[in-house]
Amino acid sequence: MAIGKLLGTDGLKNAKPLVIDARNITKIYGKKKQEKFVALKNVSLQIAEGESVAIVGKSGSGKSTLMHVLAMLDQPTKGELYFNGEKIGKLNSRKLNKVRNRELGFVFQQFFMNANDTVLNNVMLPLVIAGTKFGKRKRLAMEALHAVGLEDKAKNKASALSGGQKQRVCIARALVNNPSVIFADEPTGNLDSTTGAMVEKTLFDLNRENGITLIVVTHDEDIAKKCKRQVRIKDGEIELDTKKLVELKVGKDGKGRVELKAVKSRAEMKAVQGLTETKMKGKR
Ligand SMILES: Nc1ncnc2c1ncn2[C@@H]1O[C@H](COP(=O)(O)OP(=O)(O)O)[C@@H](O)[C@H]1O
Ligand SMILES: [Mg+2]
Repeated sequence: MAIGKLLGTDGLKNAKPLVIDARNITKIYGKKKQEKFVALKNVSLQIAEGESVAIVGKSGSGKSTLMHVLAMLDQPTKGELYFNGEKIGKLNSRKLNKVRNRELGFVFQQFFMNANDTVLNNVMLPLVIAGTKFGKRKRLAMEALHAVGLEDKAKNKASALSGGQKQRVCIARALVNNPSVIFADEPTGNLDSTTGAMVEKTLFDLNRENGITLIVVTHDEDIAKKCKRQVRIKDGEIELDTKKLVELKVGKDGKGRVELKAVKSRAEMKAVQGLTETKMKGKR
């Protein structure tokens, strides 16, 4: 059933569309019993359009695993993921690729690029996959390069760029499909602090000015603080979430809407979480 189908459409003034709705996600690595490792335990997380969310926690806590599940790069062992109200587990791989390619942009710590190819070709790649015609591909890629201040590097070989420039090319490539969500996994992890700050600014500008939902995995407290919401993972569980949806309604378009509320304390987080979960169980 669509999210919150039974709820009314009144009182949605402050409500935002729900983009990501992950319910009771468990991820177990390894097949044989002695090799099994539970990397995520029953994690539920809802993210509304336009949010900036930091996923923080120690190394090995499950941050990347969670991001990979939310970004449809990996399947959960248990639980369900809804993206814009659509149940992802039900999609075949062709449709899944389509949703991922159209809606999501990725920025990783290691600047995954074709080093021997030009900057422009690297940025155009998602459009090649999407089947966009060459003229349009080039125009969109140049626009994305402009957004990260690198249009003058379009013809350069990717390998000839500095680390910060490479990461900005990756951001341009993440942007080129006009995604609704950008996932960044330790985007400044391989950069010095000045260059990192520039990359960081580029990401936050996109969130603020273009309304792109930003989900950043980081152990950098400064980046985390700049996000409006922090989700802390410990041993595969959410230990702290500074915002929680408190209302779930459905708009005329049939999409879920949530009201986000700041959570001040751990006790309150538990209380809100409990409330939300019972409420949502009943409404699904
Ligand atoms: N493909 C895998 N196979 C087995 N274990 C894995 C795999 N990927 C990650 N893990 C384990 O899962 C845990 C969480 O990993 P990860 O999500 O990468 O943590 P983080 O990003 O917070 O550092 C770690 O203990 C890691 O060793
Ligand atoms: Mg990681």
